[in-house]
Amino acid sequence: MTVVHVLNGPNLNLLGAREPEKYGRDTLADIEAALATRCAEKGVELVFRQSNHEGDLVDWVQEAGGAQAPVILNAGAYTHTSIALLDAILGAQAYVIEVHLSNVHAREAFRHHSCLAAAAQGVIAGFRKQSYLLALEAILAHEGPFTTKPKKD
Ligand code: DQA
Repeated sequence: MTVVHVLNGPNLNLLGAREPEKYGRDTLADIEAALATRCAEKGVELVFRQSNHEGDLVDWVQEAGGAQAPVILNAGAYTHTSIALLDAILGAQAYVIEVHLSNVHAREAFRHHSCLAAAAQGVIAGFRKQSYLLALEAILAHEGPFTTKPKKD
């Protein structure tokens, strides 16, 4: 059974109250509930986590990559700074879709660069809660293994 890992980084525990003009009024629990509904419809399992600590996210990317499970990753501000998370994705050969609630490219210049995007399958930004749901649809439509490991001949 496919197990979809949704990993959320720093300050995303504050969603709902945090700068709603940028991130919307949905809480992280609302996002989890919407994803859980869709996962249940499609018979896939959901692992939904949040941490303010970079090392937790590294551990969880490694765990998902090791299990060849797809990852929806909103690394928050670590997106723009974390070589450790980039290395975790590459090292674990994790199949990652990077998501953002806000359109990071329409914001401050320091948010335009992602350390992770080059190692991701794709990036979805700007659709608030729907960014996560769109990423889930991409995973549901994906055929083949959830890894970036090259196929053996
Ligand atoms: C964010 C965008 C990041 O720049 C910011 O640091 C966040 C949230 C988003 O979902 O729009 O914490 O990842």
